[in-house]
Amino acid sequence: LSVAVMVSGGGTNLQALINALKAGDIKNACIDLVFSDNEAAYALKRAEAENIKKICVPAKKYNEYEFENLMLKILDENRPDLIVLAGFLPKVPDKVVQSYRGRIINIHPSLIPSFCGKGFYGIKVHEAALKRGVKITGATVHLVDEGIDSGKILMQKTVEVKDDDTPLLLQKRVMEEAEHIILPKVVNMAANGDIRLPIV
Ligand code: GRF
Repeated sequence: LSVAVMVSGGGTNLQALINALKAGDIKNACIDLVFSDNEAAYALKRAEAENIKKICVPAKKYNEYEFENLMLKILDENRPDLIVLAGFLPKVPDKVVQSYRGRIINIHPSLIPSFCGKGFYGIKVHEAALKRGVKITGATVHLVDEGIDSGKILMQKTVEVKDDDTPLLLQKRVMEEAEHIILPKVVNMAANGDIRLPIV
């Protein structure tokens, strides 16, 4: 299975995929492309360290129309079987969703439908969870459609919220105990027929 991973930030989810491939926890898959909208993304350094092809289209240098067409062109040159959004901040252009329908998955750091949708990304998700006082949170891998965090839910994993949690402490636990576990699991399932592509 040819996988393209889209990143914007630190790349710990990309690293989890790399580690899982090395450990044999993901079989019959290869990360053939890492794509970023952010030249400063440390995730690009992680790709470099693994000699994975990386392409950056700095979103700030293009308008939406140009960005969308560049992203589509790059993807069509690589034609991945699966696109994984791993801390990718921009909304995936509709043209890309349409062209790769059922083949784009995202990792979101909450139990969807809680704390998701416009504005709920990164640390903001955990701030909202703590403000609401939930006792359990977690992460979700879902299919990407034209909405925001609205596609079919594929896998979830819960994480306990501790009384003295800060947003940073909670984010770290959700990443380490949920995101970095379920994202490689779903990629492995897609690579080995436990999840049929395109996902309908
Ligand atoms: C994290 O907040 C993660 O929950 C979300 O994107 C952010 C960055 O992840 N998926 P990463 O370290 O760049 O993978």
